[in-house]
Amino acid sequence: MDYLQLHGKQSINGEIKISGAKNAALPLIAISILAKNNINISNLPNVADINTLLKLLSNLGATCNKGTNSVDIDTSKLNQTKATYDIVKTMRASILVLGPILTRFGHCEVSLPGGCAIGQRPVDLHLKALEQMGANIEIKSGYIEATAPNGLKGCEIIFDKITVTGTANILMAAALAHGETTIVNAAREPEVVQLCEVLSQSGVKVEGVGTAVLKISGSGGKLLNMVDFSVIPDRIEAGTYLCAGAILNQKLTITNTEPKHLGAVLSKFEEMGFTIETTDTTITILPAEKIKPVKIVTQEYPAFPTDMQAQFLALATQAEGVSIIEERLFENRFMHVSELQRMGADITLNGHTATISGKSNLSGADVMATDLRASSALVLAGLIADGETNVHRIYHLDRGYESLEKKLQNVGINIKRLKE
Ligand code: EPZ
Repeated sequence: MDYLQLHGKQSINGEIKISGAKNAALPLIAISILAKNNINISNLPNVADINTLLKLLSNLGATCNKGTNSVDIDTSKLNQTKATYDIVKTMRASILVLGPILTRFGHCEVSLPGGCAIGQRPVDLHLKALEQMGANIEIKSGYIEATAPNGLKGCEIIFDKITVTGTANILMAAALAHGETTIVNAAREPEVVQLCEVLSQSGVKVEGVGTAVLKISGSGGKLLNMVDFSVIPDRIEAGTYLCAGAILNQKLTITNTEPKHLGAVLSKFEEMGFTIETTDTTITILPAEKIKPVKIVTQEYPAFPTDMQAQFLALATQAEGVSIIEERLFENRFMHVSELQRMGADITLNGHTATISGKSNLSGADVMATDLRASSALVLAGLIADGETNVHRIYHLDRGYESLEKKLQNVGINIKRLKE
């Protein structure tokens, strides 16, 4: 297995180019199941989760010709409707093929995605919504067996909780359904907005894009003439690298990004004393005279994203004072705390709230990654720690960060990928 070795307190200079968004690319790959034509997806992040989903599509009979940051997908010969355990267990976002396969073929079997390090991650809301659209859903031997022999019927779906992939699944199911589907309490993340935009450009009428109420007029089973498209920039990757500049309290510019997707995050940097300068496609963070403590509550978009919680928790160790971070979305998303404590951070956990007293002088250590964003928090801590930090089990990191060590090396960080 690989691990990352880094030495802290380097001076940085230059720019980091942001890749396409993993969490936009995944549903956009799944929606190719609804296409009658071949499609090309560009600005695709070259990360493990994307390769996993493309492998799943190939197993179902699709042809996927992948470049480094693009893919041509032909699903005309899709002839399987079972997403097997071996693939789904490695990436729970495989659940995103359920809606498209079911709405296209009238039946689908997907292995129930297990939980993951950050929480139980149920999919009950996805299944309840599909049942409301007329699907028959049974759980057998760990598989979701969904059938809708006469296709899915549009109806009003009210989500009890805001669910990002749940909204994506129902958007895709509704695209080929008979009649109109209204999704109330829909997720408003930029990744969901892009999915709506691609559907609209492919001839599906979608109203309320960007709002919590979406109306989709289904094609009644007719496949879509899909357009080629480029994946939006990854706002979480962008926020993570801005945290790298912030934790070193040095200037850093990120390019190929979308500042308007990061409103809540940028305002938290400013609350902590940093200056943020933006153009249409770049963000520059400038040093704070003194890094101030922060209060954060993670919530759905456009509020502060849970996927930036671990990174800001690492940053808060360098603030002069007491920061409070409350995690409201996932029940176990503080796995990075114990590793940060081993590096010398002063953090108290009380249920879903972390209290971080700074400023702590962190010392390099061997640390273990546990989930995607926790891994990036450990790398951030290693940037400011004295001495050498080795971050192990970075397969977690490789799921969602393209060429992380290269991007950091390019701005002057002493970081290497080594073999255990
Ligand atoms: C998406 O996960 C993202 N993943 C996650 O990013 C992100 O943390 C999460 O949204 C929240 O923003 C992808 O887009 C591939 P949810 P998702 O359904 O859709 C509960 C990363 O780091 N819930 O919005 O699985 C659930 O337990 C990953 O890139 C149900 O109870 O999250 C959670 O508490 C991690 N029943 C809340 O809703 C359901 O059927 C939000 O989950 C579905 C969800």
